[in-house]
Amino acid sequence: MKVLGIESSCDETAAALVTDEKEILSNVICSQIEEHKPFGGVVPETAARAHLEKIDFTVKKALEDAGSELSETSAIAGTCGPGLIGGVIVGSVFARTLAMVLNVPFVAVNHLEAHALSVRLTDDVQFPYLVLSISGGHCHLCIVRSAADFEILGKTSDDSVGESFDKTAKLLGFGYPGGPAVEKAAAFGDDRRFSLPRPMCRNGSLDFSFAGLKTAVRLAAEKCKTDRDKFDLCASFQKAVADVLSYKMREALKVCEKKNVALTAVAAVGGVAANKSVGIVLQNVCDRFGMRFFTPPLRLCTDNGAMAAWVGIEKLKIGLCDGLKFAPRPRWPLP
Ligand code: KG4
Ligand code: ZN
Repeated sequence: MKVLGIESSCDETAAALVTDEKEILSNVICSQIEEHKPFGGVVPETAARAHLEKIDFTVKKALEDAGSELSETSAIAGTCGPGLIGGVIVGSVFARTLAMVLNVPFVAVNHLEAHALSVRLTDDVQFPYLVLSISGGHCHLCIVRSAADFEILGKTSDDSVGESFDKTAKLLGFGYPGGPAVEKAAAFGDDRRFSLPRPMCRNGSLDFSFAGLKTAVRLAAEKCKTDRDKFDLCASFQKAVADVLSYKMREALKVCEKKNVALTAVAAVGGVAANKSVGIVLQNVCDRFGMRFFTPPLRLCTDNGAMAAWVGIEKLKIGLCDGLKFAPRPRWPLP
């Protein structure tokens, strides 16, 4: 089975061809960084227009890189939400039209499921497993029991963790996207210089909140004069995030033990999972619990079409697909 996956929920227009043998035949990601850079963040209207301009080329390139004809595609999987409505409409209409013309099954991909299932494409991970999903648009912890069974243990009550990285970068004039820039600056800084809060790290709470940390960073940034100050703030901020995420991971593993969930592994997915310091602290927590820990490689951590194609394969294997009238869902919580 060869499935074409299309992703357009935020600022990457992406398409990939993946087989049910976990072969990623192609993985094309057309970034919109240049379009959004002047504004220091994603502008939804600009994103929608850019998706419309790039989607045709992106899908053609994915087929070309894979050395495959469109007619050899067994199914189409397109992200239908959650995400920015303009981009989701562009990608899902394109995907549904292709499925109609080729007369092949269509799978409506939930972007959160795609991140959560992506480790089963990149590594040998069996159900049930624990996922920490940390990206620009979402932040939650869930148990994945099957390709259609996700139990949310905790989620953010305000901002996502990726958003706090982007905001920190913007405040310090590092531009967009913020995560990689903050990570780079943090490498030169002293993580004990600024005292920043670790929100909601008490009483075993599995929910997240980053609004308070963002405000604390804003107040500290006002006092930053030199590059050294900025590096120290980035290091202190990144340490605060790593502390919060490791606390949540530890508490979630305790909850799973109490619930007698026989976890086979733990995974961190989404753009922030590409951060090395975050990866190290999460690995340490898992080591203490004797758990295998996985993070997809960089190109599969951030948004991509391969994870959408993989959702298609997982759903089709258990007999699930969607009608061509499936309406895009800008808000679409995990089932
Ligand atoms: O998963 P993703 O590509 O898109 C969403 O679904 O949101 O995640 C993008 C987010 C951005 O906020 C970006 O700043 C963050 O992931 N990010 C990072 C790193 N690379 C990307 N955050 C921290 N460290 C990184 N190395
Ligand atoms: Zn994402």
